[in-house]
Amino acid sequence: MRFDIITIFPEMFSGVFSGGILRKAAEKGLLEVRVHDLRAWTTDKHRQVDDRPFGGLEGMVLMPEPVFKAVESVREDPGASVVLLTPQGRTFDSGLARDLAARRQVILICGRYEGVDERVGRHLADAEVSIGDYVLSGGEPAAWVVVDAVARFVPGVVGKEGSVRRDSFEAGILDYPHYTRPREFRGLGVPEVLFSGDHGRIEQWRRKEALAKTLAVRPDLLAGKELAPGDKELLEEIERERSGGNERKQS
Ligand code: 6GU
Repeated sequence: MRFDIITIFPEMFSGVFSGGILRKAAEKGLLEVRVHDLRAWTTDKHRQVDDRPFGGLEGMVLMPEPVFKAVESVREDPGASVVLLTPQGRTFDSGLARDLAARRQVILICGRYEGVDERVGRHLADAEVSIGDYVLSGGEPAAWVVVDAVARFVPGVVGKEGSVRRDSFEAGILDYPHYTRPREFRGLGVPEVLFSGDHGRIEQWRRKEALAKTLAVRPDLLAGKELAPGDKELLEEIERERSGGNERKQS
């Protein structure tokens, strides 16, 4: 699939996609990321992309014309998805990442925090998307986040089959704890169960830890969730251990 990123700061992306999994995906021909300077679609000698807002004094607003022209010019697939990155958008999540991964082309418009002319969001973009409840100075870091998260759903991008499915959020809850060598580090050990060789017990322990972590830091994820068989019992155990004053120390 192909991403086209439209930005007034193309240099912010230098090196961003040239490491790790995204680089490998590009080498395998699964993914192409093109970064475009919005100023390429200006016609005046100052290459102006923003102007003062009607009705107010504050900040500068990205003008519609260069943005519309940029999107019209980079669009190759009629089914391309056009996304405006803005704190005013719907919150990006794993479901949206999966939907975007099914497109042949995704065009990402990086907004500026001061604002983007409303006609871009209403009449050009298919969606306005935010990556969370905080304000970034621009949509550029969000574009990186979206490309990474979407790429992971493109078949062949993530090496080990099934690892995307097992990840947090795909499973609907947070991941279980992971440990590697050494078995003892600065006096800190590794849970014995992981050396038991009993895969049933290990799976049970992992599920319980994942549920406990989710309950502790993201109870909202469990609220509307249909639980897997056995989860109810594990959650009851967790609650019992909690209320028994047997509080688990973060080690
Ligand atoms: Cl997409 N843009 C900006 N400027 N701030 C954000 C954001 C996007 N998502 C969260 N904060």
